Amino acid sequence: MTSDDAAVPDVSGTPGKAGWLGFDTSVAHQARSYDYMLGGKDNFAADRAAAEASLKVWPDAVFTARANRAFLGRAVGYLAGEAGIRQFLDIGTGIPTAGNTHQVAQAIAPETRVVYVDNDPIVLSHARALLVSHEAGATDYIDADLRDTGTILTQARRLLDFTKPVAVTMLAILHAIPDADDPHAIVAALMDAAPPGSHLAISHVASDLLDRETVDGLKGITDRMSRPFTYRTREQVARFFAGTDLVEPGLVRVEEWRPDPGTTAVGKSALWCAVGRKREGHRDDQ
Ligand SMILES: C[S@@+](CC[C@H](N)C(=O)[O-])C[C@H]1O[C@@H](n2cnc3c(N)ncnc32)[C@H](O)[C@@H]1O
Repeated sequence: MTSDDAAVPDVSGTPGKAGWLGFDTSVAHQARSYDYMLGGKDNFAADRAAAEASLKVWPDAVFTARANRAFLGRAVGYLAGEAGIRQFLDIGTGIPTAGNTHQVAQAIAPETRVVYVDNDPIVLSHARALLVSHEAGATDYIDADLRDTGTILTQARRLLDFTKPVAVTMLAILHAIPDADDPHAIVAALMDAAPPGSHLAISHVASDLLDRETVDGLKGITDRMSRPFTYRTREQVARFFAGTDLVEPGLVRVEEWRPDPGTTAVGKSALWCAVGRKREGHRDDQ
């Protein structure tokens, strides 16, 4: 991959022919716009244009992307450290960048096993970078849609033991699942497969941390992306955590979740996040 669009083959070319990327680079995609906001190089003109347009409507967009990535580091650090989790199912992996889940977790517990899931062809093309594991642990990559929970769970079992606690992380992905596809049922299906003591970490674009005009402006941009965004309220995000106890500080903005001592947020994100620990008993009993 290159950010040099001159080197990008004609996307109207022929599938199967040399140079065919298998996707339309003229439509902005979430993984690549996010990569641009994080300062990465795996993005095309349409991705950068969408990111720049978002920044005009919402100047804290770059802060939010970076605060989300920092939340990933702190949440995975907490899960591998204090919570003692040794198995991760990271769905909506994103293009590899600094501090991928296995690197953060294995720096704390080298024997940690991590299964990554994404359905973006560019993320797949970088999967090798995610498969370089500490020799004491292991990583795997599944090319699947979050909605296909059966495939994800079947393939995750190649590496993960679902009789032992698993951390399911879904950071900045659930907004890509519209209400019509019942994202709450998807999360429930995944957590139902994991035993008590497993954890769920989510970050999600918030409709109620932005004013109406900003949401409308952003929707005008994200509705034209490959997958439109669904912005959700704090209450809607809280419902993903049914059957879990939220660890401190509960459901907050990403930059407010256990910030590193001595750091001060330089913006305000519009992402709710939390980490929950699955209770004993069936989640419907909660
Ligand atoms: C904004 S990135 C987040 C990356 C990483 N989780 C983080 O927080 O830094 C969202 C990722 O979710 C993936 N994604 C979106 N919808 C998906 C779906 N239905 N199934 C699998 N992956 C999906 C995108 O391809 C993208 O890589």
